[in-house]
Amino acid sequence: MTVTKRILSGIQPSPLHIGNYFGAIHQWVSLQKENECFFCIVDLHSLTANYHTSLAQASFETAAMYLACGIDPKQSTLFIQSSVPYHTQLLWLLATKTPLGWLNRMTQFKDNKAKDESLGLYTYPVLMAADILLYDAHLVPVGEDQKQHIEFTRDLALRVNGLAEKDLFVIPEPMMGKSNTRVMSLKDGTAKMSKSDPSELSRLLMTDTRDAIVRKIKGAKTDSEPWPNTPSDLVGRPEMTNLLSLLSVLKNQSMTEILQTVQSCKNLKEMLMEEMFLFLNPIQAKYHDLIRDRSFVLDVLNQGNTYAQEVAYGTFDRIQHFFMD
Ligand code: AMP
Ligand code: TRP
Repeated sequence: MTVTKRILSGIQPSPLHIGNYFGAIHQWVSLQKENECFFCIVDLHSLTANYHTSLAQASFETAAMYLACGIDPKQSTLFIQSSVPYHTQLLWLLATKTPLGWLNRMTQFKDNKAKDESLGLYTYPVLMAADILLYDAHLVPVGEDQKQHIEFTRDLALRVNGLAEKDLFVIPEPMMGKSNTRVMSLKDGTAKMSKSDPSELSRLLMTDTRDAIVRKIKGAKTDSEPWPNTPSDLVGRPEMTNLLSLLSVLKNQSMTEILQTVQSCKNLKEMLMEEMFLFLNPIQAKYHDLIRDRSFVLDVLNQGNTYAQEVAYGTFDRIQHFFMD
């Protein structure tokens, strides 16, 4: 018998790309059947970068996309971070126990600091730790790029438990999917597909039209080496590896099978366009229905926000004594 675990994960409100789907949401959909899942739209985190014009609209659209991808509100709690004020309250309590050296080591801060240096970006990992610890999450399903943040959360929870001399916080574990935990940019196979890449052609959005899919895949970078006969021929060929892994996951076939059937770069791109379209088409149809059914999505969020608030209150009430008494 599988033991039910508490699961929490989050994504910033922004147009989701296929990296978000294969790295995170795909896992969430299968986890929700047997676990108690909380999926959070981390709108406060997204204030550390400027992607959107209206945060409320971006959060609404992100929620609609979660639902279209198969997050079931009967099985999972879908909620918005800023609707539960305990996240920022716990951030502060945790911040008082966070060594600066730990924050200085975080790669996200080091990478973005020239662009967006702010206290918010610096404390980003502490808010993320608060998101996770407030729900006593055992598992945090994320893409590989988030590993360092989960390690940070674990270290902080262990440190506070040590200071409190009791198991105040549950120690969470990261959970990575088996494949495509890192979908790479269509323009550079060594950089992850990202919403912050200045080139729109580097990412496939979950809402991309057929034309956009064709344009982006046609223009995707490849190389001029001979066709790889076995997976080992792909060493040092990041762009080909990325496109082939996507096709392999979409067709549910091993890399070896894919290499045998595809046989040319032209076929690879054509098959990938077709499979991507087949994969995205039903999700987009659901998404557009949900965008029109505004009250349904808002009801799901209201119920999720209320339940998340109750659970977060329970944890906050339990742990605040250590900090305040
Ligand atoms: P973000 O868009 O940075 O808020 O990421 C939300 C979730 O998607 C996190 O779990 C990330 O690890 C995952 N993710 C983002 N980009 C990628 C990518 N290129 N490949 C795989 N997972 C990703
Ligand atoms: N930092 C995560 C990202 O950029 C988003 C996030 C915020 C998150 N809080 C979280 C992910 C809690 C998992 C759990 O992808």
